[in-house]
Amino acid sequence: MKILVTGGAGFIGSHTIVELYNSGFEPIIIDNFSNSDPSVLLGLEKILGFPVKYYWDDCNDAVILEEIIRKENIKGVIHFAAYKAVNESIEHPLKYYINNVGSTATLLEVMLKTGVKNLVFSSSCTVYGQPENIPVLETTPRQAATSPYGNTKVICEDLIRDTVGSNIPLKAISLRYFNPIGAHHSGLIGELPRGIPSNLVPFITQVAAGLRPKLMVFGNDYDTPDGTCIRDFIHVVDLAKAHIMALKFLQEQSGTNSYDVFNVGTGQGNTVMELINTFEKVNKIKVNYEIGVRRAGDIEKIYGNVEKAEQLLGWKAEKTLEESLEDVWRWEMKLRQG
Ligand code: WQD
Repeated sequence: MKILVTGGAGFIGSHTIVELYNSGFEPIIIDNFSNSDPSVLLGLEKILGFPVKYYWDDCNDAVILEEIIRKENIKGVIHFAAYKAVNESIEHPLKYYINNVGSTATLLEVMLKTGVKNLVFSSSCTVYGQPENIPVLETTPRQAATSPYGNTKVICEDLIRDTVGSNIPLKAISLRYFNPIGAHHSGLIGELPRGIPSNLVPFITQVAAGLRPKLMVFGNDYDTPDGTCIRDFIHVVDLAKAHIMALKFLQEQSGTNSYDVFNVGTGQGNTVMELINTFEKVNKIKVNYEIGVRRAGDIEKIYGNVEKAEQLLGWKAEKTLEESLEDVWRWEMKLRQG
């Protein structure tokens, strides 16, 4: 079965391409490479042993999207394509709404026009804002998102939910990611941040690799065991596998319309310092860091209750924090070897 993967050359997208092949699907990538690098295609070819079919196009373009879906006889879509830098979304909100919301609306329109009935959407725990109670359940109220980025995810979830509710044949799932980290164990694909990494783990690996002088830890005065923020750090391969289980769940569902959301995390929380210490321990390397002031917009603590995905999708994260940090260091080292 051919699956269109928008943003398939991205960090999570590329790891999902591998798992789609491993599960007998045939993924087709559409990516405009605005936030990913074509070198990912070489890494995928080395892992898979053959080139992955891709279209260097923008999924905001309804005409091209329809051409691809019809030509490839697409039966399902995984929609990753989006900008995802929280800080950038605050500086350039319109760019985020046009791209993230616009591409989802365009995709839905073309799916309905071409009769594609299965959609897995890349959502985010950021829709919860700072929850009152953790771990968060899927029924935890979504808060007025703390950033335009988060708000685009809330709007896209509602776009999809309401389209399903309009009884036009569509079965969809939104997966709410927590903090994806790690890399494929081969070290051939991984996260490729552009410029200065905004996320914690790529910043750590670049400091450890000597590319940056030190890591600034954004605050240690939070109400947590060591004062640093708590997050649910999930291996990107576990996250990729959740998309396969979601597709299979949709295929098995009877009826023409359904919509559901699932938390996709480990169900465990770790502090920033625990992550730094674990990285140093498993990789036997020091990370030069300094405790700084809090970063605007950061939430104090969040991690997910992931029982629903286990019970309904038959999915559960399997990799440990240690494995994630070993895998990501291997990727950083291979990246630097060129
Ligand atoms: C994690 C922690 C920082 C960098 C991410 C994605 C967002 C969404 C949710 C998918 C925070 C601290 C970070 C640094 C630091 N994911 N930190 N120094 O903010 O949880 O958001 O997950 O949709 O797209 O960005 O992740 O890695 O930026 O921060 O101390 O140099 O690490 O304060 O506590 P975040 P992050």
